[in-house]
Amino acid sequence: MKKNIIQIKAVKKAYKEVEVLKGVDFEVEQGSIFALLGSNGAGKTTMIRIMATLLKADARSVVIHGYDIEKKPGDIRGCISLTGQFAAIDEILTGRENLQMIAKLRHLKNPNQAADELISRFGMSEAADRRVGTYSGGMKRRIDIAMSLVGNPKIIFLDEPTTGLDPEARLEVWKIVKELSATGTTVFLTTQYLEEAEQLADKIAILHGGKIIALDTLEGLKKLFPPARVEYVEKQPTLEEIFLTVIGKKEEK
Ligand SMILES: Nc1ncnc2c1ncn2[C@@H]1O[C@H](COP(=O)(O)OP(=O)(O)OP(=O)(O)O)[C@@H](O)[C@H]1O
Ligand SMILES: [Mg+2]
Repeated sequence: MKKNIIQIKAVKKAYKEVEVLKGVDFEVEQGSIFALLGSNGAGKTTMIRIMATLLKADARSVVIHGYDIEKKPGDIRGCISLTGQFAAIDEILTGRENLQMIAKLRHLKNPNQAADELISRFGMSEAADRRVGTYSGGMKRRIDIAMSLVGNPKIIFLDEPTTGLDPEARLEVWKIVKELSATGTTVFLTTQYLEEAEQLADKIAILHGGKIIALDTLEGLKKLFPPARVEYVEKQPTLEEIFLTVIGKKEEK
């Protein structure tokens, strides 16, 4: 059995009198992709900020990679990375300089080499020496995720990694996430796109009313509902499928 790299029990958080998290429990298996779903304001970012040690919960039991967040927040910071809901890249610097800066901040022995490796891994050689301010939204996201991989963190938190991206850039992020998981990194992501969770997640949790109201594999969640009635209808392609076919990306999906 795989070990649980994240163990969350009875996490509560209120902002003034507004209770956002009312006792959240879940566990995340090492090397898996875990998706936290919830509507706007459900508390997804709050939960991620608590796990990333940026925000203190009011009551909590948070254990990450064996470290209790109360006692060893520094050790937790050493094995995670967070890509926030809004890109945190310096637009004046080039992509390469951004990566080098993070590698230096993370005290890597050879920051330039670390940056070069990520640039080639993310296929960004052409754009690497241009200012990030000239990048498209998808390229910014890509460099943002690349930055979070500097130093090979065990766990990466991605807060709505594809919000605002076009379908093509979204597929690219999905590919990166799948590759990360294939190499043993645990990925915790939040999303409002149900299809994203369907495509990526080993486990899906739904945060609603301050609690996790469902947590299972996609197959398991489907069993919660009565079997669909069999109907014979002509299957129309979705707009997304049409869009991707027209721009020639469908076969990569
Ligand atoms: N610093 C803060 N002070 C007061 N209220 C806050 C603060 N941060 C978040 N909230 C409130 O807590 C609730 C949960 O916010 P949070 O950002 O965690 O939700 P979310 O699920 O990430 O939403 P979204 O999908 O819009 O990103 C919201 O009602 C929000 O207004
Ligand atoms: Mg959020």
